[in-house]
Amino acid sequence: MTAQLIDGNALSMQLRAQVAADTAQLKAKGLTPGLAVVLVGDNPASQVYVRNKVKACEDAGLHSVLEKYEADMSEADLLARVQALNNDPSIHGILVQLPLPAHIDAQKVIEAINPLKDVDGFHMASAGALMTGMPGFWPCTPYGCMKMLESIGYSLKGKHAVVIGRSNIVGKPMALMLLQQNATVTICHSATPDLKAMTLQADVIVAAVGKRNVLTADMVKPGAVVLDVGMNRNDQGKLCGDVDFEGVKQVASYITPVPGGVGPMTITMLLVNTLESAQRALSEKS
Ligand code: GUN
Repeated sequence: MTAQLIDGNALSMQLRAQVAADTAQLKAKGLTPGLAVVLVGDNPASQVYVRNKVKACEDAGLHSVLEKYEADMSEADLLARVQALNNDPSIHGILVQLPLPAHIDAQKVIEAINPLKDVDGFHMASAGALMTGMPGFWPCTPYGCMKMLESIGYSLKGKHAVVIGRSNIVGKPMALMLLQQNATVTICHSATPDLKAMTLQADVIVAAVGKRNVLTADMVKPGAVVLDVGMNRNDQGKLCGDVDFEGVKQVASYITPVPGGVGPMTITMLLVNTLESAQRALSEKS
């Protein structure tokens, strides 16, 4: 079997076109969705990410502001900026790019964001909403993975999903989203004694560790769906995921490539969340 690709670029284009159309409608009603992206310091990867986020906003017709600060900005000054953005009616989404410099308590900054503007879905209130099935913003990367499963018409009910990785940003929220769709979910991590025994039982595998070749063909049940959240470099410096793509695609039914898989979906879902936040602001006004 050769797996079909789930093309994150193509799906993103579709979803972003819908965001652009909905944004145009909101603008016609006098409201422009606005995203504020805050970058502290000069982490080169973060600079690329925030540039891409701002560009994606502009391409879809959203208003976006990029606030860049020196690496020695104080925590108090950053908290004050977040507060100002909380109070700014032109801003519907606030994203503080991580990682933050070591002298700043990232969790404290995230908790300072108004949960109604927490389009990253990192606030404790957002995490709690996801856990309890209440309305709230879902973290963009696992949300994008769910959209990819939806795009192939995959029903999770009664399926076994194995998530490799337990980060607050991907692994844990991913598991909750899969559970909400009635999958049986196993979370594996660095202390899991026999990862292969787990993944071989899986109908769906999400690899979100940040290490190459975490998942190889011998670990995958024929016909499984494999989503690769990893973003690594191989020995030649080429971008690659956590999955041995060439091997696993011979066994899986569907697989996401890296690049061009989950990656573009993260920014797409950020736009979706920002639009939703603006729509909510409008409906509260009327
Ligand atoms: N750093 C890496 N990915 C992300 C993300 O999705 N959101 C934020 N705020 N920071 C990140």
